[in-house]
Amino acid sequence: MAKMTKDKLRSRDWFARTGDPEMTALYLERYLNYGLTREELQEGKPIIAIAQTGSDLSPCNRHHITLTKRVRDGIIAAGGTPIEVPVHPIQETGKRPTANLDRNLAYLSLVESLMGYPIDGVVLNIGCDKTTPALLMAAATVNIPAIALSVGPMLNGWWNGERAGSGTVIWKAREMMARGEIDGDAFLDIAASSAPSVGYCNTMGTATTMNSLAEALGMQLPASAAIPAPYRERAQISYETGKRIVDMVCEDLRPSDIMTRAAFENAIVINSAIGGSTNAPIHLNAIAAHLDVPLDNDDWQALGYKVPLLVNLQPAGKYLGEDYHRAGGVPAVVAELMAGGLLPHPDAITANGASIGENCIGRAATNTDVIRTLATPLVQDAGFLNLKGNLFDSAIMKTSVISEAFRARYLSNPDDPNAFEGRAVVFDGPEDFHRRIDDPAENIDQDCVLFMRGAGPKGYPGGAEVVNMRAPSYLLKQGVEALPCVGDGRQSGTSGSPSILNAAPEAATGGGLALLQTGDRVRFDLSKGTADMLVPLDELADRARALTAQGGYKIPDSQTPWQQYFRELTGGLDTGMTLRDATNYRDTARKNKPR
Ligand code: FES
Ligand code: MG
Repeated sequence: MAKMTKDKLRSRDWFARTGDPEMTALYLERYLNYGLTREELQEGKPIIAIAQTGSDLSPCNRHHITLTKRVRDGIIAAGGTPIEVPVHPIQETGKRPTANLDRNLAYLSLVESLMGYPIDGVVLNIGCDKTTPALLMAAATVNIPAIALSVGPMLNGWWNGERAGSGTVIWKAREMMARGEIDGDAFLDIAASSAPSVGYCNTMGTATTMNSLAEALGMQLPASAAIPAPYRERAQISYETGKRIVDMVCEDLRPSDIMTRAAFENAIVINSAIGGSTNAPIHLNAIAAHLDVPLDNDDWQALGYKVPLLVNLQPAGKYLGEDYHRAGGVPAVVAELMAGGLLPHPDAITANGASIGENCIGRAATNTDVIRTLATPLVQDAGFLNLKGNLFDSAIMKTSVISEAFRARYLSNPDDPNAFEGRAVVFDGPEDFHRRIDDPAENIDQDCVLFMRGAGPKGYPGGAEVVNMRAPSYLLKQGVEALPCVGDGRQSGTSGSPSILNAAPEAATGGGLALLQTGDRVRFDLSKGTADMLVPLDELADRARALTAQGGYKIPDSQTPWQQYFRELTGGLDTGMTLRDATNYRDTARKNKPR
């Protein structure tokens, strides 16, 4: 790797003593005004941005405000100058209509910050679900040396003597409330018990998934992703991360050197082994697109489906984030996969300059109930299926969360194994679902398959996490656990529902789902990978004509300018929901000197 000399630092374009004295003075004077010295800005010290996602609006990442002190110490100890850069806030559970809408907004704004200011390298403060992809996408586009720092999960939650996991316990509690077993106050107590400290969701939801995958991709220091937010090791790794980014700038080690096709293939395998969220393909496909690395949902099935589930975390299993860390975190998972020859590219380079194989070899789990061996997995074939048919071109199904009850009810017909048929009940968005689900007039029974449409990136701007629909309360009271769910929206990674989701194209862009009607028979064959409405072709053609005549599938008005721009520019969930033309801008810091 080429060694970066002082003169090659891009911040020299702003600050070098040898530059145009008038412009240099203009660039410098305002950075001096809070006490930075000319030595810190002009003596060839790398200027390191800390992309700050912590704020009062972002409680999951708020602890980064504290950790950043240690990051700064590390940067200074290694000879750099830290500059903290605010990132547009993204908070998963608080942002309406959905935090996913803001992933691309935070991406765009961070690209402008990194590109347009005197920055040589960046520490990416990742954590809450969409903060991780937003920051990795921006680092990919600008392609200056970058390292991610996870804020870490919350401590384990406890309720009634049992682990209470973020989100997962809420899906359970909403069923208890629908059955009349608890009231609203008890619901809130249960929810709060799952959030006992600073940090992000302690389940294997999208946050733990994406933070684990940032390490799997090589973008974090080894063994750092799973450290709980309040642990002393979290502050220590923050210091080490600050030190390391300065060296990465000197080594000119860039996101495109680390996040190669090999790294993404590793990440897909690791995602299956950890029981990662169905949001992972959306985000990794987006990051890859910004790096010009080809990656699609067929890759997820081809590389990931046959991999066993090793990590016993809720929602697929029983433990939570502290247990995951203590058992060895990502390196223990990687070590076990390597021992079985399942990690495709042990030689992929990572942020510390060593390969993922070198970092993880021999780091066996210290608790083999939390991180299982290949001989004792929780589930074989735990990856995603990518289903296709006349309903959509692509939809993901997380097979590792198919329960025994679900399998017995829907996938155990000896004449038709691994396939099920049903009667479609179609909901147009979450509001329609809440209005109708408990209405006895809908006649929803165990033969029904629930459909959610109008919930994709354009339909419900950003794509709502609403496909994991609960069964009607009268069925829940009869002991029915769940009905099959399908939709063009997403679902929370904390949900244990085996929904068929992220369907693309979505109804709002004329996908097959827009033609479906309540009462249609539908068929899913998991062995063949098919998903179809059993409706004659001429009938579908009639429906398509009628839909066009009424001006297409109706979606609610945008409520803000960004919602409108997002809808005009976004791609589908299958291709990562990237913005039109954004992926044409690659390696921008090397290609362009700022004007
Ligand atoms: Fe922020 Fe789960 S809601 S990490
Ligand atoms: Mg979520």
